[in-house]
Amino acid sequence: MKLSVFPDYRMLSERASDEIIHLVKEKPTGVLCFASGDTPRLCYQLMVEKAKAAKIDFSAMSFVGLDEWVGIPPSNEGSCHFFLDNLVLRHLNFSSANIHLFDGLSADPKGECRKMDQFLHEKGGIDLMLVGVGMNGHIGFNEPGISSHYYSHIVELENTTTSVGQKYFKEATVLKQGITLGLKHLLETRKVMMLASGSKKAPVIKKALEENISDQMPASIIRTHPNSKVLLDEEAASMLRS
Ligand code: F6R
Repeated sequence: MKLSVFPDYRMLSERASDEIIHLVKEKPTGVLCFASGDTPRLCYQLMVEKAKAAKIDFSAMSFVGLDEWVGIPPSNEGSCHFFLDNLVLRHLNFSSANIHLFDGLSADPKGECRKMDQFLHEKGGIDLMLVGVGMNGHIGFNEPGISSHYYSHIVELENTTTSVGQKYFKEATVLKQGITLGLKHLLETRKVMMLASGSKKAPVIKKALEENISDQMPASIIRTHPNSKVLLDEEAASMLRS
């Protein structure tokens, strides 16, 4: 795991966006997997600007969403689907056949997991996964205690996740379950970037990077990945020892 600390959120986002552009140039048939949420917002905006300016072709790239709230439709602006479509997908020339997002409204959530795993299997796995870190240390919706042996699965969300998650919605929204790629996907991804910004993330970053690697702190698993980068701003890194 390589750790980089940047003076501020903009510089962190600049670097992360450059990493994405680099991957697409290097492997125009690659597979991207992005988290939604506040942390990568600026990274995606910068990435889209850079991709447009350099006329980068996404037509042979594939894209999967990391996770989704169960029961929330794609038209709801708090959904991961809405977020990724709005910030990334509709600005770039992905082919719709190469995009796979979880359907939070599916009547068959387990089948939805199988479809995602099958899609990724057919595409040969993920080249670059970009993740954030939850206030409880989750990655995607892999909540504390989850085994790292799962591919896609349905999760009962912790109270921290359902209450913090309200920030994405215009009105109070009942959130109970998530559907997410598993940590096994993360471990099998060729390159993983984990981003964290702001002092509120400092305690969880300290636990993830300096305490035991454990299922209780899913973000700590990034340290076992052979090609992972953790990008922090100074505030998120402020509790680290060195
Ligand atoms: C969202 C996701 C979550 C977020 C995490 C941090 O798709 O996978 O794990 O990355 O909850 O969210 P923010 O970036 O809003 O602090």
